[in-house]
Amino acid sequence: MKALVWHGKHHVSVDNVPDPTIEQPEDVVLKITTTAICGSDLHLYDGLIQTMESGDILGHEFMGEVVAAGKEVTNVKVGDRVVIPFNIACGHCWFCKQSLFSACDESNPNGEITDKVYGHPAAGMFGYSHMFGGFAGGQAQYVRVPYANTGPLQVPAHLTDEMVLFLSDIFPTGYMAAENAQVKPGDTVAIWGAGPVGLFAAKSAMLMGAEKVIIIENIPERINLAQQIGCEVINFDADNDENLFDQLKDKTTNGRGPDSCIDAVGMEAHGTSPGEIYDWIKMGLRLATDRPNVLRQAIQACRKGGTVSVPGVYGGFLDKFPFGAAFGKGLTLKMGQTHTQRYMRPLLDHIENGDIDPSFLITHSLPLDLAPEAYETFKHKKDGCIKVVMKPFEEQTAGKVKNFMTPESNA
Ligand SMILES: NC(=O)c1ccc[n+]([C@@H]2O[C@H](COP(=O)([O-])OP(=O)(O)OC[C@H]3O[C@@H](n4cnc5c(N)ncnc54)[C@H](O)[C@@H]3O)[C@@H](O)[C@H]2O)c1
Ligand SMILES: [Zn+2]
Ligand SMILES: [Zn+2]
Repeated sequence: MKALVWHGKHHVSVDNVPDPTIEQPEDVVLKITTTAICGSDLHLYDGLIQTMESGDILGHEFMGEVVAAGKEVTNVKVGDRVVIPFNIACGHCWFCKQSLFSACDESNPNGEITDKVYGHPAAGMFGYSHMFGGFAGGQAQYVRVPYANTGPLQVPAHLTDEMVLFLSDIFPTGYMAAENAQVKPGDTVAIWGAGPVGLFAAKSAMLMGAEKVIIIENIPERINLAQQIGCEVINFDADNDENLFDQLKDKTTNGRGPDSCIDAVGMEAHGTSPGEIYDWIKMGLRLATDRPNVLRQAIQACRKGGTVSVPGVYGGFLDKFPFGAAFGKGLTLKMGQTHTQRYMRPLLDHIENGDIDPSFLITHSLPLDLAPEAYETFKHKKDGCIKVVMKPFEEQTAGKVKNFMTPESNA
């Protein structure tokens, strides 16, 4: 079969690799109809996540048809059309029983690596390095899905792949980010990053009754989309980063500051503020693992007694972390990998009810063969790219990645 294979920093290619097979009685094998590239894949592409090996298959947002099932699989059967959550969870350990699926104790055969670094073993994830289990990912024609009695969600035939695919990750991630932000009706919520996660966090905050959602971003197409879905926007280039905190205060009742701040950027923040330049230099000298300037800003901006929610991924030890400000203002901090399985069914109901159509942010749809170019386009936010979906069985008809939302870019 064909799969997108990681060979090193900024080096991926579509290779022919062996087909997956059933290895455990609870496995299924999925024929993938649609898959996507996530902001988290960029951390792998940029070589920032340890324990990747040349030959690893990437991809953790995918869906398709069950083509083989192990003898203990009861949740789904051959022929079912399902979406798969990005984290792998056994369904029967103490953590899974508490619905803390991304903390599953059983699903990562290499748990000892994160046990040493984090103090406890992390759960497995598809296509996300050997410390998260070394599982092959789903930017491929087929994938093995372990613990299939817990993860896969059947989806109704009348909803397109594009409408349900993001139940695999970014929709639940945005939703959990808003839930972690403790959004209540009437609240003002500030969100850093109008990437897919920030945009779904914004939509989710609105579903929870937020009165005002302010997005901080500097990429024009993303700013436009954030405005289209009803957000106010601060462009941190044009509106002068140094005044960010004053601008946020001005947009809130009595200048109190946002009730909740969401960091939907994570370890690879860009920008030219002094904090960002400091982080670039430290990372360039390999003295830092992450560029946490957005997290510093979110803590600084949040009103006293407010909540900072962090869906953006961080990997290591954060430098100049303003813990004094967080303590002094009595902030609540909530974060983590999404407990995806917990949210898939209720969010599918929102899609079926017509509350949201998650396909609103897809700008690029292309055959898997073009995945290497698609990574470059998505990484550099070229050609208005917001979200790429890929079709593993579509023939390569065009020679290059195209934005199908803007006809002029395809001229
Ligand atoms: N917690 C989870 O389970 C989970 C799941 C999916 C993704 N993520 C993480 O969420 C983050 C976002 O993912 P995405 O797919 O939206 O990625 P993305 O790269 O498409 O979006 C990130 C956005 O942040 C913006 N940005 C960068 N620096 C900024 C700054 N200084 N201030 C404001 N905005 C800035 C970028 O312009 C970009 O639009 C990533 O870190 C990803 O790894 C976490
Ligand atoms: Zn992801
Ligand atoms: Zn478990």
